[in-house]
Amino acid sequence: MNKIAILCSGGDVSGMNPAIKRFVEYSFEQGLKPYFVYGGFDGLIDNTIKEAGYSDVAGIIHRGGTKIYSARSTRFKEEKFRAIAAKNLRTLGIDKLVVLGGDGSFHGMELFFKEQNISFCGIPSTIDNDINGTQYCLGVDTALNVIKTATDNIRDTASSFKRAFVIEVMGRDCGYLALVSALTSGAEMCLIPEIPYDLDTIKKRFLREVKEGRNYFIAVVAEGLKNSQEIAQWFEKEIGFESRVTVLGHIQRGGNPTVRERLMAYQFTTYAIDALCSGQKDSVICYSNGAFESKSIKEITTKKYEIGEELLTLGKRLLQK
Ligand code: F6P
Repeated sequence: MNKIAILCSGGDVSGMNPAIKRFVEYSFEQGLKPYFVYGGFDGLIDNTIKEAGYSDVAGIIHRGGTKIYSARSTRFKEEKFRAIAAKNLRTLGIDKLVVLGGDGSFHGMELFFKEQNISFCGIPSTIDNDINGTQYCLGVDTALNVIKTATDNIRDTASSFKRAFVIEVMGRDCGYLALVSALTSGAEMCLIPEIPYDLDTIKKRFLREVKEGRNYFIAVVAEGLKNSQEIAQWFEKEIGFESRVTVLGHIQRGGNPTVRERLMAYQFTTYAIDALCSGQKDSVICYSNGAFESKSIKEITTKKYEIGEELLTLGKRLLQK
């Protein structure tokens, strides 16, 4: 029986557990013996690789995080540790690997494949949604829903006071989460690293709106700008509104995976196993314009992700683009 393993690397996302469940079930359907690598790339190096069965994935579909743990491995950046990882897999007779991770993890896998020729298939998994070649990464829908609930709650209190609220969301250097959240929660302002903004222009609009009766503001700011406090002070000084900052932080990474997330996890994992079974050696499953497609890792890692023009145009007023 051919053997296949799965691991999670980098920031965990809601959706990893449903993917792990599907991995076990679909591996058996395809006549493969499934293995879990506990603890990401560190688990490959430390040989925490164990055979998996149905009972390991019972009762996990609704849980955020990952049952098999994740890690940001610094050792995997060194060739000597990647060689140990490959040796551990070969000793167990595992020649196929499904990797749930973000950009950094995929760069690691690209090197690993070049040096060790162990077949892998990546499933884009990061709430930042910043992987080139795919419009959707696992974890994004759940994170957006967490932000939506938090922002709706903040709006309740914001609308009861004359105040400005600055909500800082994750995303590293990518403004996708901030932009989609600002649009879907009806924020008045959105600042992201990709788009330059002019506070003087925003000030003119806001002062006009205050004259017309606006009595609270919600601004969604991407963490990559590192200026949430500064924007809050700007509201106090320039707009004349008392302000508060809410840094949403790691609550965005957890929580019950949404229905969309679970379904995406099932589909991503099915395509990943199919890609490996059909002989693809270094691929990533991407989702674009409503369809799944397997792309070579090279296509993914040679370019930086860019937010789509359509979304930027939708957010034009909020972004002052
Ligand atoms: O990449 C996912 C992410 O949640 C980013 O949005 C955030 O900047 C970072 O990870 C936080 O990393 P850590 O969990 O290591 O603090």
